[in-house]
Order: sequence, then C-alpha cells, then structure tokens
Amino acid sequence: MRYTFGTNDIAAQRLEKIGEIFNPHSSRFIRKYASKPVVSALDLGCGPGFTTHMLFMTLNSREVYGLDRSEEFLERAAERFGHSVFIKHDLAGTSLPLKAEVMYSRFILAHLSDPVATVNRWSEDLCENGLLFLEEVEDIKTDNAVFKRYLEINRGLVASQGANLYAGELLSKGKYSRETVANESFELPITNSQAAALFYPNAVNVWEKENYVLNTVSPEERRAIAGALSKILSARDNNSGISWKLRRIVLKNSKEDPYFGMFI
Ligand SMILES: C[S@@+](CC[C@H](N)C(=O)[O-])C[C@H]1O[C@@H](n2cnc3c(N)ncnc32)[C@H](O)[C@@H]1O
Repeated sequence: MRYTFGTNDIAAQRLEKIGEIFNPHSSRFIRKYASKPVVSALDLGCGPGFTTHMLFMTLNSREVYGLDRSEEFLERAAERFGHSVFIKHDLAGTSLPLKAEVMYSRFILAHLSDPVATVNRWSEDLCENGLLFLEEVEDIKTDNAVFKRYLEINRGLVASQGANLYAGELLSKGKYSRETVANESFELPITNSQAAALFYPNAVNVWEKENYVLNTVSPEERRAIAGALSKILSARDNNSGISWKLRRIVLKNSKEDPYFGMFI
C-alpha cells in the first residue's frame, strides 16, 4: 500500500512540525511505562527520524534503530541523527529484521491495511518483557468549517488506499496476543496556526497528485481550502479551535517465572 502523504522536502518539514508538537507528549508517555534502562529500541515507521531522535533522548538506549520503507526519509534521518541506525524495511511484511526491548510506532498504522494484525505480528519480535508502544489518531475534534472539510477529504483519501486515518479507533478495540499494559486516550488541543501548518502542505503538495481528490473535490474548493489555511497560518492565529484525540496502547511480552508456585 502506498504512503499517501509523500516523502519529499515538504513532507519531511511537515513531519518535523508534527515532532515539535507531539514529541514532548510522546516522550512523557514512554517514560511512564518504560522505567527500567533499555539496551535496544526500535522506531517502526521512523520517517526522517524525528521520532527516532525522541526515542533516543527519552530512553538513553545504546542501540536505537529506525525502520521505514522510504529511502528518501532514511537518508535524511541518517544524515541528521548519526546516533541511530536506519534500516529499510516494509513494516506491512512478515517479521521484523531485529528484536528489541522497546518498540515504538506513531502515525504509521493509519497507512496500513490491518492495524491490529500488524501490531500482533510486530509484537512477536519483542524481547522477553519487552514493551511495544503505539500512538495513533482516534479522532480530531473541531468546529472550524475549513479544518472539518480538510479532514473529511484526507480521511477519504486514506480510505481510498484501503487504510483508516483514524486507526486509533480500531486499535482501541483490538484483540492482542500480548499482555495489554495500557489502552488509553490522550487529548491534545493545538493552536489554529499549528493545525494549518500541518494541513497546508498536504492541501498544496499532495492533493493535486491524487486521483481520489481530483475526482471528488473541485479545483475551486481545493483553492479555497488552501487559501483559507494559508490565511490562518499567516495571521498566526493562536486560538485553539482543534484538538487531537490519540489512542495509546502499550503491549508487553510478559514472561511468567515457569517455577512460580511449584514448591508451595
Ligand atoms: C506519518 S509518517 C510518521 C513518521 C514518524 N513516526 C512520526 O511520527 O513523525 C508515516 C511513516 O510510515 C512510513 N511507511 C508507510 N508505510 C510503510 C510500510 N509499509 N513500511 C515501512 N514504512 C512505511 C512512511 O514512509 C512514513 O515515514
């Protein structure tokens, strides 16, 4: 399945903005459950490396690996974040190329066809007592008409590829083969200009190449949405009329002591 939001300079800058907004919260989420020192950590769907860097800073782990399918993103990641190792890998495929004590994944299951089955496959490669952290969008709440329409179009675009932009919905109800340590939601209101900075690049850089959008949204409406987003951006509108609801899951490869209770 194709990754809809592109892998060029503009897409990388957009992911950097996503990192600026979400990374401090992701780091606190990981610290809450991963309290012990960790030797090896894996960032599944690392993009240009902003989540890998966050993982490195959070865990202080000796070995951090970023996996992604995009060579363009992996090259950028290796150039900027020399502390980690970046490996090309299709995460929709069978097993992972290495095992790890901590695995982390943000905003990639929204681009894969069966998020819960994929997670169960990934979790097979957790080390004993290893943890898998997942963060995906469950909903984005807003009363702003431009944001609402943008999100409707983007959700349709991702669905036209056989995936679900709000994969968090599916993850919250998933049946997992590993112990579920956490299944919680997290709400993050952001400013209108931050939201416009995340949306505008897709409206001008991605939509014009996508048949789904070309066939369902008129050129006038596309121009009007891009214009309205650009206006919010340049006005530096720091009111908050939009809030992300994330689904956060932590799975553990629990190993019970096989001798526990034998001599009682
Ligand atoms: C929205 S980005 C998220 C990047 C990063 N986790 C973050 O939060 O900034 C999704 C990433 O998933 C990658 N991706 C999509 N499908 C993939 C697949 N089948 N195998 C590996 N990577 C994939 C894309 O190349 C992209 O880097």
